[in-house]
Amino acid sequence: MTLDVVILAAGQGTRMKSALPKVLHPLAGKPLLQHVIDAALALRPEGLHIVIGHGAERVKTAVTAPAARWVLQAEQLGTGHAVQQAAPSLRGGGTTLILYGDVPLIGQQSLQSLLAVAARGALGLLTVELADPTGYGRILRDAHGSVRAIVEHKDASDAERAIREVNTGIMAVPTSRLCGWLDQLQNHNSQREYYLTDIIAMAAGSGVRVEAVTASGETEVAGVNDRAQLATLERAAQAARARQLMLAGVTLLDPARIDIRGSVRHGADVSIDINVIFEGDNTLGSNVSIGAGCVLKNVEIGDGVTIHPHSVIEGARIAAGCSVGPFARLRPGTRMGEGAKIGNFVETKKADIGAHSKISHLSYVGDAVLGEDVNVGAGTITCNYDGVNKFETRIGDGAFIGSNTALVAPVTVGAHATVGAGSVITTSVPENTLAVARGKQRNIDGWKRPEKES
Ligand code: UD1
Ligand code: CA
Repeated sequence: MTLDVVILAAGQGTRMKSALPKVLHPLAGKPLLQHVIDAALALRPEGLHIVIGHGAERVKTAVTAPAARWVLQAEQLGTGHAVQQAAPSLRGGGTTLILYGDVPLIGQQSLQSLLAVAARGALGLLTVELADPTGYGRILRDAHGSVRAIVEHKDASDAERAIREVNTGIMAVPTSRLCGWLDQLQNHNSQREYYLTDIIAMAAGSGVRVEAVTASGETEVAGVNDRAQLATLERAAQAARARQLMLAGVTLLDPARIDIRGSVRHGADVSIDINVIFEGDNTLGSNVSIGAGCVLKNVEIGDGVTIHPHSVIEGARIAAGCSVGPFARLRPGTRMGEGAKIGNFVETKKADIGAHSKISHLSYVGDAVLGEDVNVGAGTITCNYDGVNKFETRIGDGAFIGSNTALVAPVTVGAHATVGAGSVITTSVPENTLAVARGKQRNIDGWKRPEKES
């Protein structure tokens, strides 16, 4: 059975009141439309057709959809008209699944159920019961309970409006039948639109069974029309992720206060305090502890690492047993060897820090390679930039950098060398030596501070 998926994403989304096309607004860190594309690709379809209109060029470049066919619907004349634009490239004899670019949390189980219905030659329609069905197309059933038609809210009678089972719009249809029905659509309705929903009555009329599949709940079929709905779905998506983490053995001090805008792989007994944000792809080892208020993006963290509160870490690889923060900022290209320590108010960038080395307080270490067991004193700065070019600082194993040292790169401090506090190091320091590069202290006898005139 060949499968074509059509995603409708041409609408403007006026109620978002945004310059950004609606389907590009992010949910859990990726565009709404990307969620739908990913759900479609998980079904391994032969064809993926994305109908775009408003902001078409921007939409195309903002999502990843390998081998998708982009279909332009220049004028939005209705959901039926939108699917018509894709019809010429659908494969006859297969199934077509229709999804919506602004319904991001659609689940695989519902989609599989719909495809199973279509595989039997019937039309699978995803429906849901709503406490308040206002605005939605209502499901009309015959005396035997079979679906016979959908009536749009605007076209419905009072009796029909009392029906709480509504159309989600998501359906799986035998493709050859679909194309025939699309040809017959008319726009004789209150909105002067070509309604996709009219094919339901056509199916029922031509003896094709319409089977309703019930959605797992409102969330998976909820569409985003405004930013309040977007926020509601964001919370739903985050709650689901938090729950998944907890069931997989992660301690969350408060599952309502964690945001995962990407992925988190983890070992056993990881503990995450409140208000932590993950972005991109992250890997945590076992017995990792993440303090409150940390923001982690594309990090790889080994076993037994502690990240203390309010640290911001991006593009870093942190080996087992390290300690970071509080208030540390690790920028891309930071590598920490086993048992290394980065303390408070330290910034690192492109820094390779050897095992058991320590940068405990108030330092900037960038474009640097540090050996093992190096001790970097408080207030040390690698002066890596001359305004035009970046230069490297190298510090050998066991070196001791006194507090408030400026290391003017390019410069090398040899293994087991010591740099006196307050030094400005401009030339390399050989191994096992002491470098002191600061003004010599003078003590002036009997000197008096100026006094105020009385
Ligand atoms: C549609 C259904 C309704 C259902 C509801 C669920 C129809 C006629 N009605 O109504 O039964 O209860 O969804 O949310 O299908 N779109 C296009 N091109 C168009 C028109 C729409 O791409 O020409 C896209 C929109 O961007 C949107 C989606 O299709 O993502 C739904 O369109 P919309 O006009 O919002 O349909 P509803 O009136 O909500
Ligand atoms: Ca809608």
